Amino acid sequence: MSLYEQVKGTVEWLQERIPGVPEVAMILGSGLGALVDEFEDAISLDYSQIPGFSESAVQGHAGKLVYGRLSGKNVIAMAGRVHYYEGWTLDEVTFPVRTFALWGIKRLLVTNSAGGANPEYTPGELMVISDHLNLTGVHPLRGENDERFGTRFPDMSYAYDPEFRAVILKAGEELGLSLRTGVYAGMSGPSYETPAEIRMIQTLGGDAVGMSTVPEVIVANHGGMQVGGISCITNLAAGLGTERLNHDEVKETADRVRGEFTSLVRKTIEIL
Ligand code: HPA
Repeated sequence: MSLYEQVKGTVEWLQERIPGVPEVAMILGSGLGALVDEFEDAISLDYSQIPGFSESAVQGHAGKLVYGRLSGKNVIAMAGRVHYYEGWTLDEVTFPVRTFALWGIKRLLVTNSAGGANPEYTPGELMVISDHLNLTGVHPLRGENDERFGTRFPDMSYAYDPEFRAVILKAGEELGLSLRTGVYAGMSGPSYETPAEIRMIQTLGGDAVGMSTVPEVIVANHGGMQVGGISCITNLAAGLGTERLNHDEVKETADRVRGEFTSLVRKTIEIL
């Protein structure tokens, strides 16, 4: 079966369980999945049930797709995602996004935890993603292009939709949050970067660094979706502090900012 037929099958599977097309799809990063508990009239589907969806083994990345109402809109959210570094192929990593695009969902809000490569950033801050650097060394659209998903050479000039970005910033302003805006540098992981790699990222114009998001955003653009992105800066990137980096610190910071983060997402959905 072609990837297109697989994705189409999953769209039909979801249509049998979920009424109507959600207005917004969200990918909730490490420690940020709790937002789905606030959905009204929720329909929750474990990734293990959904054809084509893969399940992460990483701690703090629960795997469920939840549909419901948030801030008066019909939304669908992935609580947890799978990563390239776990060994999944990029077709597997981006399968859910292809599903959302083919289903007809117009907007995708991606969130993640990231290290702050910009020396002005402090752990606990939230960054609106203005653009990304694909430093993963791989590309999710490599291979034969199926035009039913999108064009061979997709434009990435507005990979993070300017209007979507303005909405997130407005939501932040209304909530009295001081948000950063910056460029997300996507690495393949799973090791954290070396200090030399962080200096490279700074030279290239990267403000935050992480191990997700880039493949999903490329595929969303291929599928014609408007993308918004928020990074939770969970730690100083390597070499910017004296401490060694570890996943516990990332989870602790994400936990600490969860309240602000969820209010920002809720407000963004309301204004969209
Ligand atoms: N580097 C890469 N990925 C990350 C980091 C980091 O410092 N923090 C959270 N995810």
